[in-house]
Amino acid sequence: MGDEIVGAPDYEPLRVGVIGTGLAMDRLHWPAIRRLPGHVKVVAFAEPDDVAASRFQATSGLPETARYLDYRDLLARDDLDAAVILLPIPMLHGAALASLEAGLHVFCEKPPGGDLAEAREFLSLEAAHPGRRLFVAENFFYRDDLRLARAAIESGALGRIHSMAWRITGQYVPRDGTFSSTPWRQQPQYRGGTHLDGGIHMMAAIRLLLGDPARIHGLVQHANGRMGGPSTLLLHVVFTSGAVGSYSAIHPEIAVPPDDASLRIFGDDGSMVLTPAYSQEHRGYTIYPARGVAEEVRVRRSSGALLDGGYVNEWIDFADAVRRGTPPVGTVAQSVMNMVPILRGLDSAEAGGVAIDVTPDCPLQPSEVSVPLWRPGTSADLACGLDLEVSRRAIT
Ligand SMILES: NC(=O)c1ccc[n+]([C@@H]2O[C@H](COP(=O)([O-])OP(=O)(O)OC[C@H]3O[C@@H](n4cnc5c(N)ncnc54)[C@H](O)[C@@H]3O)[C@@H](O)[C@H]2O)c1
Repeated sequence: MGDEIVGAPDYEPLRVGVIGTGLAMDRLHWPAIRRLPGHVKVVAFAEPDDVAASRFQATSGLPETARYLDYRDLLARDDLDAAVILLPIPMLHGAALASLEAGLHVFCEKPPGGDLAEAREFLSLEAAHPGRRLFVAENFFYRDDLRLARAAIESGALGRIHSMAWRITGQYVPRDGTFSSTPWRQQPQYRGGTHLDGGIHMMAAIRLLLGDPARIHGLVQHANGRMGGPSTLLLHVVFTSGAVGSYSAIHPEIAVPPDDASLRIFGDDGSMVLTPAYSQEHRGYTIYPARGVAEEVRVRRSSGALLDGGYVNEWIDFADAVRRGTPPVGTVAQSVMNMVPILRGLDSAEAGGVAIDVTPDCPLQPSEVSVPLWRPGTSADLACGLDLEVSRRAIT
């Protein structure tokens, strides 16, 4: 299994300084970056926590001199192209501002702010630094199973889409070594707790496949004394296209039985069921047409490596955007629009559960085909040059 999965591009790798080497770096970004030595090279990092710093030093092989306690000292280096910001949500904006002011391009984790006022500040940050890329990471835009599902929908496989349904349930309590162990998630200083932190990815998938919501009805419940924020968020959605959908995320303190967790999309000519993202060996979707046999589509890595959550593709898009000037999918605007259904759902719940339009107070206009589909390079082939194998089989 080779580390280098995509041939070196025709540019020098981006030299990046990382701000925060906690769980997202350890579990998600480093496994992707280490497979893309032609695209990105970590030069230095800032991390005040000794445990997180030595773990990253050990996995990355960077010398002790590459570590900074204060990210302002890291930003003063003269050998960086970009800053990579992997900080707790309330710290993202300050670090993005400082990095842009230091003249760097920025790869910043989601969400762009803890509410819509902060989202507007992120948008102004981008407007104030037009010569620099401000990329907001949203790995679900880059997941191969979701990209293929979007292409199938675009090809008309389901006909007119009228409905969607997605229910995600699971106990949510602090567990060592997992994202729930971080104190900033247990007492969230941003709206919606886990729904804005983790649920934003589901909104990204929904928007990629169905376009933007136009009208939302939200309800919440509190059944978790250990993780702050509402434990349940229910959304009823009317999309800009006219389709309707229901999304439920239920994360109580007590254990709950296993659930299906499949996103289902219903059209006049067929239905699509996506696999939940749990499997790292293969993921995909099945289309059940109105007439004829069902087709199962699965993606896996040709090399046998495990699938990631789209992080490798995300890094390729960021490196291409900086080096080649191509427009990236992971813009501030796209991540702001991923926040909107959650935040307007919370507004609706706080207003007593009345349905509300997304548009008033929305920093951007919702649209029917909202998220561009990421393709590697200029190829029409969604798998071109990637470590990706697509299999299709009829289910009789
Ligand atoms: N895309 C995804 O799938 C995904 C998953 C998890 C987290 N995230 C995002 O990544 C970000 C980080 O989340 P995490 O789970 O890694 O959190 P974490 O708490 O594990 O890591 C944050 C790190 O930042 C460090 N830090 C704190 N203050 C600092 C400072 N002033 N300078 C430098 N470092 C500092 C902490 O010591 C910690 O190691 C969040 O924005 C989160 O939303 C994204």
